[in-house]
Amino acid sequence: MEKLSEIKEAFNREKGSVSDLNDLRQFRARYIGKRGAITELLKSLSALPKEERPRAGKQINELKKFIEAELKALEADLKSRQARKELQKDLLDITLPGKFVPPGSYHPVSQVLQEIIDIFVTMGFSVEEGPEVELDYYNFEALNIPKDHPARDMQDTFYVKTETRDDLIVSDVVLRTHTSPVQIRGMEKRTPPLRFIAPGKVYRCDSDVSHTPMFHQVEGLMVGEDVTFADLKGVLEVFVHHLFGPDTPVRFRPSYFPFTEPSAEVDIGCILCGGEGCRVCKGTGWLEVLGSGMVHPKVFEAVGYDTERYRGFAFGMGVERLAMLKYGIDDIRLFFENDLRFLRQF
Ligand code: DAH
Repeated sequence: MEKLSEIKEAFNREKGSVSDLNDLRQFRARYIGKRGAITELLKSLSALPKEERPRAGKQINELKKFIEAELKALEADLKSRQARKELQKDLLDITLPGKFVPPGSYHPVSQVLQEIIDIFVTMGFSVEEGPEVELDYYNFEALNIPKDHPARDMQDTFYVKTETRDDLIVSDVVLRTHTSPVQIRGMEKRTPPLRFIAPGKVYRCDSDVSHTPMFHQVEGLMVGEDVTFADLKGVLEVFVHHLFGPDTPVRFRPSYFPFTEPSAEVDIGCILCGGEGCRVCKGTGWLEVLGSGMVHPKVFEAVGYDTERYRGFAFGMGVERLAMLKYGIDDIRLFFENDLRFLRQF
């Protein structure tokens, strides 16, 4: 009896210092393992006088049951403590305030570009793309811009250095100066009738309030057996009325481009002064918005189209310029400074 209460006391005392499942295994072995205190007690029963054995056996078994129950509870407690510890390692405190990520929005140039694309897609034009690093042939030659044409001036064109001969850089690779080369690439790929637009980045060695070394253009081309200048006027009038409003005056003014004949520039009534004359329209009441014309036979020849059978019109516009006019912005460089106070207004 004395032994029993000694064991129980020791068990209760030691219980508190069992801190993990490893400790527990040893603790358990000390009491109910093969050499455990309880097991040894049970073995010693045979040394007792016969009549005392049942009572002693019963008491030992009661203590054993008590210990087993305690060990079980202890194990459950240790396991849940360990699980909690594991969770804490990558604990997410859901009561902490979140980090505010302000929503972004489309750049004004992207917005206007998307609007332009939508208007032409509605009129049945598909969207074509071409490379920004372009061959001289596509950027100039095939568009009837011969070697001595002022548009090829070294000051405007970024040449990609491919070969050095003495001091002279001879290169047939350029950063495209306009999206017109996509006309050629698009026509090489298919046969008329066709109509597509070609939006994208273009590059010119030029920089001031109205010029940046990179800007965006949208080219357009429609070719068929009976495409006329009236179609050109109709399509571009619809375009202008969608982008600037249905009451915007439109006029076609004779002009010159090497790849069109006849050529025309399209003006709209100044949207800032309503045609009265102001600083932006330089007192004329009109704003030039794009270049256009009937495809030059030389261009059709370059892609092997029958110049007797087909005609077409083409046009090209600067996206930043249209965005500036649409929103009354007076310095093109604002688009590329990424000042949030500017960008947030769109
Ligand atoms: N490529 C011309 C430029 O960058 C714009 C242009 C004018 C495109 C007339 C055309 C066109 O397709 O017909 O200034």
